[in-house]
Amino acid sequence: MIKKHFHRLPNSLRMGLWVTLLVGLLIGLSAWIQVQREQRTDLDEMDRRASVIAHQTVYAVQTALRLPDKEAVVALGSTLEGYRRLMGLAVYRADGQRVATGKAVSEFADTLQKVVDQTLQSSKDTIMAERAADTPIHVLASLIRTPEGQPEGVLVVVQDLLHLEQRATTRLYQMGFWLGFIVLLLLILVVAGVWLFYDRPLNRLAEWMGQLQTGDAICAPPLNLPVARLATESDRLAASFRTARLAHQERARAVVRADNVWTRDRLRAHVVDCVRGGRLVVVSNREPYMHELRDGKPHLIVPAGGLVTALDPVLQASGGVWVAHGSGEADRQMVDAQGRLAVPPDDPTYTLRRVWLTREEEQGYYYGFANEGLWPLCHLAHERPIFRADDWKHYMTVNRRFAEAALQEIGSDPAVVLVQDYQLALAPRFLKEARPDLAVGIFWHIPWPNPEAFRICPWASDLLRGMLGADLLGFHLQQHCNNFLDTVDRMVEARLDWDHFTAELQGHASRVRPFPISVESWAERDALSGDALEQRVVELRQRYKLVGQRLAVGVDRIDYTKGLTERFRAVGRFFERNPQYRGQFSFVQLGAPSRTHIPRYRNYISELEALVDEINWRFQTDSWKPIHFLVDHHDGVAVHAFLSMAEIGIVSSLHDGMNLVAKEFVAAKEDLNGVLILSEFAGAARELGDALIINPYDTEQFAAAIQQALAMMPEERRERMARMRRQVEENNIYRWAANFLAELAAVPISAATTQETT
Ligand code: G6P
Repeated sequence: MIKKHFHRLPNSLRMGLWVTLLVGLLIGLSAWIQVQREQRTDLDEMDRRASVIAHQTVYAVQTALRLPDKEAVVALGSTLEGYRRLMGLAVYRADGQRVATGKAVSEFADTLQKVVDQTLQSSKDTIMAERAADTPIHVLASLIRTPEGQPEGVLVVVQDLLHLEQRATTRLYQMGFWLGFIVLLLLILVVAGVWLFYDRPLNRLAEWMGQLQTGDAICAPPLNLPVARLATESDRLAASFRTARLAHQERARAVVRADNVWTRDRLRAHVVDCVRGGRLVVVSNREPYMHELRDGKPHLIVPAGGLVTALDPVLQASGGVWVAHGSGEADRQMVDAQGRLAVPPDDPTYTLRRVWLTREEEQGYYYGFANEGLWPLCHLAHERPIFRADDWKHYMTVNRRFAEAALQEIGSDPAVVLVQDYQLALAPRFLKEARPDLAVGIFWHIPWPNPEAFRICPWASDLLRGMLGADLLGFHLQQHCNNFLDTVDRMVEARLDWDHFTAELQGHASRVRPFPISVESWAERDALSGDALEQRVVELRQRYKLVGQRLAVGVDRIDYTKGLTERFRAVGRFFERNPQYRGQFSFVQLGAPSRTHIPRYRNYISELEALVDEINWRFQTDSWKPIHFLVDHHDGVAVHAFLSMAEIGIVSSLHDGMNLVAKEFVAAKEDLNGVLILSEFAGAARELGDALIINPYDTEQFAAAIQQALAMMPEERRERMARMRRQVEENNIYRWAANFLAELAAVPISAATTQETT
């Protein structure tokens, strides 16, 4: 019954009672031991005093004992009378007969007689504390002997113990009082402490979780939770709830648009709707078409990387202007006085406006801040970011330069501006400061890490403010949106609305949404098909001595985030475990050199080459080698040909926003005869669940996946690939652009918005 009631008490009170009970018992026990000890000391003192008194009196008593009783009494005179706490003495003969007693002790005659008898029997002094005639007394019966050692009599010393008894009672009362006081104080402190630091935050957490389930949860979980990890885990839980809810909404929407495949033409019409007579302007660092010098002549290159792969088809479909850094050696030769060029050069559909940067600016803004700072900051690939104040200055200057170039292109027209990626985080704010009526969106092509990771950037809050200049912020995954809003929450005094995924800073609201980016079909590109493609495949197989080989292919910029080391190691391990595949199967890695001014990137190429040499040396034969590492800038046609001829596509990023190569491989597998091996740390893994999902750090699992892919039955390959192709076809790059533009068009733009200069 009591137990039942006890369990119903609030946590804090129960814990308080337990603690108080235990501590009370401990204090009580030690107080009791202390009292006992003091009492013992007092009694020892009484013993000592009694002995001294006996000692002082013994000579007179011995003399008296040699006389007859009456004379003895006379001889003793007042010696037996007491004073203060000594009540008196008594003298007995060796046969137990009383000779004389002090007046005050005669009332204890019976008790004293017993003590004397006991002393005579045992021939030893007796010492005891007794209660006699309602008085507490201390008695010492000291045996008196003749010089020959024969008992001659007993001297009894009687002392009053009342004062000791009173002192002990007072001590007990005092201790009881302090014990009560301490216990009460402790109870109050423990109950208050537990309630404040444990009960209250946990109750709030429970309340917040309840709201989370009903969808009413506002912003972050409560602060000051008793266990720090609880806060992190609740954050995560909330994020997954939000993700699940949004995914559910997204699935519901997807059912409605199931038969909806977006095409170039459809996007073109949609863009016209969305920009409402204005211009569509894309602003990015990397240009879609670059002119390099080859043999002294300008040579056209389409740079590698997801951004160009994704956005060129969008602008080809919609027309407009693309503002980008003119970074090619021959770029200046190919443009007009304003830095403009119609692209694609063989069939122009939009304008490329090149922005010029000095060497120092490029070094500071692009190589330094963007790629040595922000890139490793956002990719959790164990590369330490480097932030330099000079790089940051260049980053600001160049961002402003891009914004100004875009504004020049827009003139006084209305426009929708799509700013791209981490190189231009400040541009949205610069644009809106100059033209609050513009619809500005920014898409972040790389992951957004958690707030703890992001806050190490010394200019983190400036970057956030810059981005929050945009009306719409897009990321690949809901997870990145959650991380972004969490970061804003911790670092900027913005108002967050987690239900609508918006952040409001100085009266300007920005929507934050996931838009998983994608590709267009190879048929829509200038890719080869049919016999021409076959022909190209045959050529490539001959050129690289791959005739008759089963192939796996990887296509990447040479970047430490792509997990190339891990990939080569896994291939090595595969041949170790499956020597029967030697001479039959090869892995081809197309690697586009990238950011080679940065030492880490330069070194990475040499490291990879050394690793490939080592693996090849171990397994190669006279006519075959396991890995072909083709370091070069491969054009789209070659990439397509390689992806088509490979039965396995490998993407093993250590961290990647999306990774479009995964989708390009799926898009290239028209015959459905292919298996994709895909890192769980690439955003694409969320959509391409039919790939063999691997952890690139787990070499054994990775090698086993290669083996599994090679051994997979044609039927299973086809089924998996068909599902992935449907996913990629339905969610192509046109849908991505259409969704982004539709969302941006839906944002109410207030021309009166005021922005603060960064
Ligand atoms: C990633 C980034 C892009 C970048 C591309 C190529 O996809 O998100 O912004 O353009 O890599 O890198 P690069 O430094 O050569 O432009």
